[in-house]
Amino acid sequence: MADVSEANERRLDVSGEAGNGSSAVWAIVAAAGSGERLGIDRPKAFAALGGRPLLAESLDRLDRCELVDAIVVAAPPGWEEPCILLAEELAASKVVACVTGGATRAESVAAALAEVPEEALVVLVHDAARPLVDDALVERLLGPLAEGFDGAVPVLPVADTLKRIRDGAVVETVAREGLAAAQTPQAFLAPALRRGFSQELADATDCASLVERAGGTVAVVEGDPRLLKITTTADLALVESLLQAT
Ligand code: C5P
Repeated sequence: MADVSEANERRLDVSGEAGNGSSAVWAIVAAAGSGERLGIDRPKAFAALGGRPLLAESLDRLDRCELVDAIVVAAPPGWEEPCILLAEELAASKVVACVTGGATRAESVAAALAEVPEEALVVLVHDAARPLVDDALVERLLGPLAEGFDGAVPVLPVADTLKRIRDGAVVETVAREGLAAAQTPQAFLAPALRRGFSQELADATDCASLVERAGGTVAVVEGDPRLLKITTTADLALVESLLQAT
């Protein structure tokens, strides 16, 4: 059973400032992927969505979110300047840095995390590839952190039957019970995220897996089916239609 006194000791107020005048909640936007499967002449973060770069949607939404104090963007190598210009065009004044992303998502997040000051309380890590982030989800994610969890991730139930396959054949049907699909943003107490990132980063497809591996506790909150991850042109078209419907 969880030690209640320890949980209470770790209870924190994640709203507002860190207590020393600095920002409490930082958001990292991982935008350094190449997006090869979109087949365009620029990185995925600059694919057109609703007449502006894909990255604009999540930057705009996180900048307007009252629960977020500051934002760091991990930009595709060579695209740091366009990222800064985009933030300026959007008047996204919470964007404090654009760093050069790495070869993997985890390396990009690590580069951005290095820009987050020691005093930060909470770090949200979000994929630019999931443009339709909203305030309600950010609020849901901060709840478990105030209750003593090291992290929180949004999840959706898995609807399809899952098969483990090898060489074009099914080797196992995986029981769906207890499985869920994880989305971003994912929220963490800053020290727990740093502990996660002090380990080997290879094979980490999300930040929560690193925090879990370092012994951190990660809660789940209800995800959002609109928070689709854009991988193909069909995904772009679908998110575009969701945008127009709002
Ligand atoms: O490639 P994938 O869509 O899985 O990437 C998820 C997110 O991680 C995207 O927003 C992408 O821009 C980001 N990423 C990154 N650095 C990389 C690879 C992916 O920031 N080297």
